Amino acid sequence: MSVCIAVTNPTGGVGKTTTTVSLGASLAVRGLRVLIVDADPQANATSALGVKGRDEAGLYAALIEEEPLERSVELTATANLWIVPTTPALAGAEVELVTVMAREFRMKRAIETLRTQYDVILMDCPPSLGLLTVNALAAADEVIIPVQAEYFAIEGLGHLSKTVEMIRRNLNPQLAIRGVLLTMYDSRTNLAREVEQEVRTHFPATFRTVIPRSVRLAEAPSHGEPITAYDSSSTGAKAYEELANELIERLRERELLPAVAPMRARAAVAPASEVAHGA
Ligand SMILES: Nc1ncnc2c1ncn2[C@@H]1O[C@H](COP(=O)(O)OP(=O)(O)O)[C@@H](O)[C@H]1O
Ligand SMILES: [Mg+2]
Repeated sequence: MSVCIAVTNPTGGVGKTTTTVSLGASLAVRGLRVLIVDADPQANATSALGVKGRDEAGLYAALIEEEPLERSVELTATANLWIVPTTPALAGAEVELVTVMAREFRMKRAIETLRTQYDVILMDCPPSLGLLTVNALAAADEVIIPVQAEYFAIEGLGHLSKTVEMIRRNLNPQLAIRGVLLTMYDSRTNLAREVEQEVRTHFPATFRTVIPRSVRLAEAPSHGEPITAYDSSSTGAKAYEELANELIERLRERELLPAVAPMRARAAVAPASEVAHGA
C-alpha cells in the first residue's frame, strides 16, 4: 500500500514542482517505487522529467472520462520513477469537474487502483485552491507545503492550514500536514532566518531539512532531467536527498513504508555480472 502525498501551496513559484520532481527522484534512487501525478495544467513536472503529455491519455481522461489511470502511467528515465503526465487540457477539468458527480473524489478514485503498485505517490498541485487541488487533498494521506522564506510566508501558511482543516472536516478526516518545507533558502539574510524561526514556532511539523537556492535546481528542468541525474553532487541534489531521508524516517515511524523497500534499487541496478556471480 502506498502513501499518497500532495505537494501544495496556492502561492505560485514557491518550489512545489521542484520539490515533487526532486524529492520523487531522490526517493526513487533510494529504491522506493514512486509515482508522480502531475495535477497542474501547466505540466511543469511532466516536462521537467522529459516526458511528453498526451491529450487522449492523462490525468484529464482519468478525472473526466473515468479512464483507468493505469493507462496513463509512464516510466521516466529514472529507474523506479513513474509519472502520470499531463497537458494544458487539464485546465478544462477544473471547469468540467464542477458539474460531475462526486466531483471532489475523482482523483481519489483514480488513484485507488494504483495504490498497491507504488510505495509513494506524489501529487504536484496547481497554484490555486480550485477543484484540482481539492481533489488532490481529498485523495492524499498527507501534505507537504513548500514555502519560500519571505515576509508573507506565515500569513499564507495560516490560510493554507485552515483550508487543510476544512478538507479534513468535510472530505478527508485523516489528512495530515506532514511537513512545511523551507525552499530557496538564503541563510545569509536575516529575513530568511527570522521567517524560518517564525515558521518553526507556528508549524512544529516543519522539516529539519531546508532547501537552499541552487542554480543547478533551476537549470535541471530545461534539460528534462531531475536533479539526481542532472547534477547529483550539487547542493540542491544533496538537500533533496536529505529531505528524502527525513521523509522516509517520518514514514517509517508510522509504518507507512516497508522496511525492505530500498533493496529493490540495488537489485534493479546491480550489473548482470554481479547477479550472475551472486555478489
Ligand atoms: N531551491 C531552488 N533554487 C533555485 N531555484 C529554484 C529552487 N526551487 C525552485 N526554483 C525555481 O523557482 C521557480 C519556481 O519553482 P517551482 O518549483 O516551479 O514552483 P511552483 O511549482 O511552486 O510554482 C522555477 O523556475 C524553479 O526552477
Ligand atoms: Mg508548479
